[in-house]
Amino acid sequence: MVFGEKVYWDSKTAFVLAAIGSAIGLGNVWRFPYICYKYGGGAFLIAYFAALLIAGIPLLILEFSLGQRIGGSPPTALGKVHKNFAWLGWFAIFVGFIITTYYSVVMSWSANYLVHSFSLAWGNDPKTFFYSNVLNLSDGIFKIGSPQPYLLLGLIICWIWILLSIWKGARTVSKVVYVTVTLPWLILVILVIGGFTLDGAMDGIRYYLTPVWSQLLEPELWQAAFTQVFFSLSVGFGVMIAYASFLPPKSDIVNNAFIIGLADAATAFVAGFAVFSALGYYANIQGVPVSEVMKSGPELAFVTYPAIINNLPLAPLMGVLFFIMLLTLAIDSAFSLVEAVVAGFMETFAIHRTKINLIVGGIAFIIAILFTTRAGLYWLDLVDHYMTFFGLFTVAFLESIAVGWFFDTERLRQRINEHSLVHIGKWWNVAVKIVIPLIALVLLVISVIGIIQKPYGGYPRMAELLGGWIPLVLVIIIGILLGNITRKILRKSKVEN
Ligand code: PHE
Repeated sequence: MVFGEKVYWDSKTAFVLAAIGSAIGLGNVWRFPYICYKYGGGAFLIAYFAALLIAGIPLLILEFSLGQRIGGSPPTALGKVHKNFAWLGWFAIFVGFIITTYYSVVMSWSANYLVHSFSLAWGNDPKTFFYSNVLNLSDGIFKIGSPQPYLLLGLIICWIWILLSIWKGARTVSKVVYVTVTLPWLILVILVIGGFTLDGAMDGIRYYLTPVWSQLLEPELWQAAFTQVFFSLSVGFGVMIAYASFLPPKSDIVNNAFIIGLADAATAFVAGFAVFSALGYYANIQGVPVSEVMKSGPELAFVTYPAIINNLPLAPLMGVLFFIMLLTLAIDSAFSLVEAVVAGFMETFAIHRTKINLIVGGIAFIIAILFTTRAGLYWLDLVDHYMTFFGLFTVAFLESIAVGWFFDTERLRQRINEHSLVHIGKWWNVAVKIVIPLIALVLLVISVIGIIQKPYGGYPRMAELLGGWIPLVLVIIIGILLGNITRKILRKSKVEN
C-alpha cells in the first residue's frame, strides 16, 4: 500500500460480508441462545426482533452515515459532527479494544477445544474438565496464579491469525471474510439439520418458539433484548463507523444496513435451532424438562455443548465442526475491533499500518494474558460486564445525541437518501433524536443503579475498581486527550480548505 492512500473495500460484497462478519460472532451462537433460554424462549424472540427494528437498524444506519457520509474513522467522523464529540470516537474504539483482549481469550478456549474434540477429552464430566483442566480456575479473583500454557499458546496463534487478517486493512479483510463468513454458516446448516434428527429435538424447539406472552411485560426482558441487539450488531464500538469509512462515495447505506441487520438476526435465529434442538435432546436423555437442562448460560459452548456432543453420532467430527464454527465466527468480530483502533490511529497520526497493527496487537495480547491466568474467567466476566454495558450504552446514547441534536439530522437523512434505493422516512430523525437516546439512557441508568446497589457477580469492590471503574476512567481520559488532537487536525484541515 502506498502510504497515505485511501483504501476501499474490494467490492460492495466485501463490505457487506465484513460487516456481517463483525456482527455475527459468539454473540449469535452463544450469547443469543442462552439469553433467549434464560428469558423463556419465544417471548424473548419477539422482543429481540422488535428491538432490532426500533433501535438496532436505525442505529446501524446512523453509524454507517457517520463513517461514510460524514466521513472518517470514529474520532474524525464524530469530531466533524461537533468538535466536542471527537473524544467519543476514541472512547468507543478503546472500549472495543478492551473487548478484543478477552474476546481473543474465548477464541483461545475454542482453539483448545477444537484440539480436545478429536479425542473427546472432556469425557463424561465436561464441567470439571472446563473449570479444572482447561481454565484451572482458582477460588478467588485475586488468586491469579500463572498463565495456563495451552491457553497462552492458543492466544498467540489467535493473535497471529487476527493480525494477518487485517494486515493491509480493508484490502486483506475483503479476501478473508469470504471464508470466515461462509464457512461458519455452512457448518451451522449442518448442525441445524443434524439437530432436527435427534430424539427430543422438538421439545427444545417448542421451548424456543413458544412465547409466554406475560413475559413481555417484564422490563428485564426488554433490557436484555436491546442489549443483545446492540452487542450483536457491533454498534457502539466504532467498528461499523470505521468499516463504513472504507466505502466509496455514493454507496447505498440504507440497503446495506437492512441486509446486515437482518442477516445478523437471521443467523442468531437459525443458531437457536441448532442449540435448542440439542438442548431438547439432552433434556430427553437426562429425563428432565428443557427448562432445567442448563444451569448457567455462559457454560453453553464449553460445558453443555460438549456434553451433548458426547451423545451425537460421529461425536469427534461434530466437536471439530462446532469449534471451527465458533472460531471462524469469532475471528472476524475480533479483527473488526482491532481494525477500528488501527483506522483511528492511522487517520489521526499518519502512522504506517504495519507499525500500528503490531503495536495495537501487541498491547492487546499483553493485556489478554491476564485472562489466561487461573483467575482469568473472573476478570473476563467482570471486564465484559463493565465494557459492554457502560461502553456500549454510553456511546449509543451520546452518538445519537450528537447527530440528533448537534447536527442537521434532516439534511443528513436527505444525503443518505440521495444514493439509497429504499428511502428512509422522517421516522429515522425521530429514532435518532429521541428513541435511541432514550432507550440507551434508560439501559445505562438501570445498569449503573444495579451496580451501585450490588457489585456485579458478587466480586469484591476492589476488583470492581481495578477491572471496571479504573479502565473506564482511563479510557475516558485518554479519549479526551486524543480527542483534542483530532479537534486540532480537523480545525487545521478546515482552514486549509
Ligand atoms: N457482534 C459480535 C458478536 O455478536 C461482538 C462484537 C461486538 C464484535 C462489538 C465487534 C464489535 O459476537
